[in-house]
Amino acid sequence: MRHDHLITSKQLSRGDIETVLDRAAEIDEDPSAVADRYADTLLGLLFFEPSTRTKMSFETAMKRLGGDVVDMGSVESSSVKKGETLADTVRVIEGYADALVLRHPKQGAAQMASEFVDVPLLNAGDGAGHHPTQTLLDLYTIRENAGLEDLTIGIMGDLKYGRTVHSLAHALTNFDVHQHFISPESLQLPREVVYDLHQEQDGTQIREHESLEEILPSLDVLYVTRIQRERFPDENEYQKVAGEYQIDTDTLEAASDELTIMHPLPRVDEIAPEIDETDHAAYFDQAHNGVPVRMALLDLLLGGDDGGVRDD
Ligand code: NCD
Repeated sequence: MRHDHLITSKQLSRGDIETVLDRAAEIDEDPSAVADRYADTLLGLLFFEPSTRTKMSFETAMKRLGGDVVDMGSVESSSVKKGETLADTVRVIEGYADALVLRHPKQGAAQMASEFVDVPLLNAGDGAGHHPTQTLLDLYTIRENAGLEDLTIGIMGDLKYGRTVHSLAHALTNFDVHQHFISPESLQLPREVVYDLHQEQDGTQIREHESLEEILPSLDVLYVTRIQRERFPDENEYQKVAGEYQIDTDTLEAASDELTIMHPLPRVDEIAPEIDETDHAAYFDQAHNGVPVRMALLDLLLGGDDGGVRDD
């Protein structure tokens, strides 16, 4: 485990996922048991794109384990501005830190960067590619609210550019889950993702829809995502789909009382604030779960010797 990288959720077996989630639950129960475990450990943060939750929860996780972070800071204030390559940047920062967390606008950047370093590198989002640590906290939240067995989930919004969706959908193929993908036609899952999902799971468990209405009553979980405006090559294309698929209390009249609503956040206008006060809303807990889940992951990668994440 000590030198493994986490680049995509495809690396994660069901056993790996359960190891991380179980460890996170233990830590959630008694964070004091690990409070000083990593007193001499430094986590390197390299965020080439905006981040609030992912960056701050990694920082909180490392500090709650007794360690600290070294942060490259914004692209504007770093040597990236002078033309330094990503490969050189990660090679330098691995000399300062025991593990690296990388977010980058280019799909494939984390995979490429991981080939230049020996310390564990965690992909915190590579363009429209993957976001596997978000997936682990999503799975933790699903397990807490609805369970991961015999689950029917709707994943709605920007399925084309949404990296949290790509990672979550792959990880869910490890479980007995019916996945319904709801989006406008122009934002459907990339065909290669659908192909991969069909390879990994009996195709009858994966369905695509343009309307939420037909499927809403059967859902245990509805995972809503933001339209990823920054990834559209053309602003006009964004304007055509902006504001589609908003949910409010009227939409939810057809839903089960038990429906759990999730969102990786930030939201723009996909979920009306009136839903925040209902029992359906799990998205703020979901964000908070980022801390114990990332503590568990760091613990398993930096010190653990009992299973966990394997290299691809
Ligand atoms: C997501 C991301 O960056 O992909 N945010 C997050 O990490 N919680 C989702 C988004 O930006 O819409």
